[in-house]
Amino acid sequence: MAARELGLFLVSTGLALNGCLGSLNTYNRPPPRPTIVNHLENLKSASPQQVHLSVVGEDKMRISWITEAPTPATVQYGTSPGKYEFSADGTTSSYSYLTYDSGEIHDTVIGPLKPNSLYYYRCGVDSTREFSFKTPPAQFPVKFAVVGDLGQTGWTQSTLRHIAESNYDMLLLPGDLSYADLNQPLWDSFGRLVEPLASQRPWMVTQGNHEIEKIPLIHSEPFTAYNARWRMPFEQSGSGSNLFYSFDVAGVHVIMLGSYTDFDPNSAQFKWLVADLRKIDRNKTPWTVVLIHAPWYNSNTAHQGEKESIDMKASMEGLLYRARVDVVFAGHVHAYERFTRVYNGKTDNCGPVHITIGDGGNREGLASKYINPKPNISIFREASFGHGQLAVVNATHALWTWHRNDDDAAVSSDSVWLRSLSSDTACKVKT
Ligand SMILES: *[C@@H]1O[C@H](CO)[C@@H](O)[C@H](O)[C@H]1NC(C)=O
Ligand SMILES: *[C@@H]1O[C@H](CO)[C@@H](O)[C@H](O)[C@H]1NC(C)=O
Ligand SMILES: [Fe+2]
Repeated sequence: MAARELGLFLVSTGLALNGCLGSLNTYNRPPPRPTIVNHLENLKSASPQQVHLSVVGEDKMRISWITEAPTPATVQYGTSPGKYEFSADGTTSSYSYLTYDSGEIHDTVIGPLKPNSLYYYRCGVDSTREFSFKTPPAQFPVKFAVVGDLGQTGWTQSTLRHIAESNYDMLLLPGDLSYADLNQPLWDSFGRLVEPLASQRPWMVTQGNHEIEKIPLIHSEPFTAYNARWRMPFEQSGSGSNLFYSFDVAGVHVIMLGSYTDFDPNSAQFKWLVADLRKIDRNKTPWTVVLIHAPWYNSNTAHQGEKESIDMKASMEGLLYRARVDVVFAGHVHAYERFTRVYNGKTDNCGPVHITIGDGGNREGLASKYINPKPNISIFREASFGHGQLAVVNATHALWTWHRNDDDAAVSSDSVWLRSLSSDTACKVKT
């Protein structure tokens, strides 16, 4: 079999595998849009591409970028255009996957940086591309864009356009990024698609089933591309794995969990989570939010009964409940659903609000069938593409809004004020 045919064969096998893992639903409204492939002209260049940012601690930023040709992992930066007073060196890596060899993947941590400030930067030796970003604020208010199952279709573009207009400080992504599904050049294409946004604001992500990309006997290591391309600041929170970590931003403690790595009470992730929850300082971070991929609460007919939902919930829900986590965001189901505060399947005023926001715009389409009658803990559910915004106003109040991509316009379709559990005297944190 020629390499190209082998590639196609593996891609279609991958699609079939992902199909089994994933969507059982029928899709109708609106129809999926085809994948956009972002081609590049000069493949041998040292020009930075796929630039994206992630926070490291409270005053540093990791710049991740890829070049085809080798170049030093140097980032020059400063507070006015064309003037780079500072410089930092990072590391370069690469990976191979079947017949594909990645470009040079550079990771450079820069800082200390001032909060809520604009910086200009350039990557490597190429001086033709100047980028800029804004650091997150150190205090409230802070605004998050939240979107899962993003993919790279026409709907993704529509979603990204609305997110770009939202003036957000940081993006949170609960898994399923590129939908490359073993076809590695689609990771590059995804990197180029999101660069205009991800090079300007930190994109903090966790992984979904589409990031696993493990093929029995042929490529046994899971998350190869994800870990190489989307390195997150796990060491800073005492985690030993890129698959789960936490960080603080402007009074919010954000915990990223891995639905497709071990989560039982003997697992490294579970033990890390227990320790991480214990370290939360409510005076410093009155809000705590958690991101997972497979939702623990879901009244869509898609993705019912999966172990990443049922067993992970059984293992970890009590921990999150006792720590008074405010919100749990999930993806996986390609639709929007917001639950009331829940614990153990029932309304509980001291439990987290669960929100499924897996509606970014991937090529698989929407999950449009719901279980009826609607369980009373489900407050709002709708199968449309879109994204969410969490505007944390102060220590006690945050406004959550869901923005639907209605005929390519962003329409605010669900909106609710949340109160932090740390400010609710009836919900004392239990340790
Ligand atoms: C759902 O029903 C239960 C049992 O009747 C009730 O206790 C709970 O408050 C209801 N929840 C909501 C959000 O209406
Ligand atoms: C927090 O924000 C809410 C909503 O804007 C407002 O009603 C409340 O007074 C604010 N609290 C403080 C302490 O400023
Ligand atoms: Fe998924």
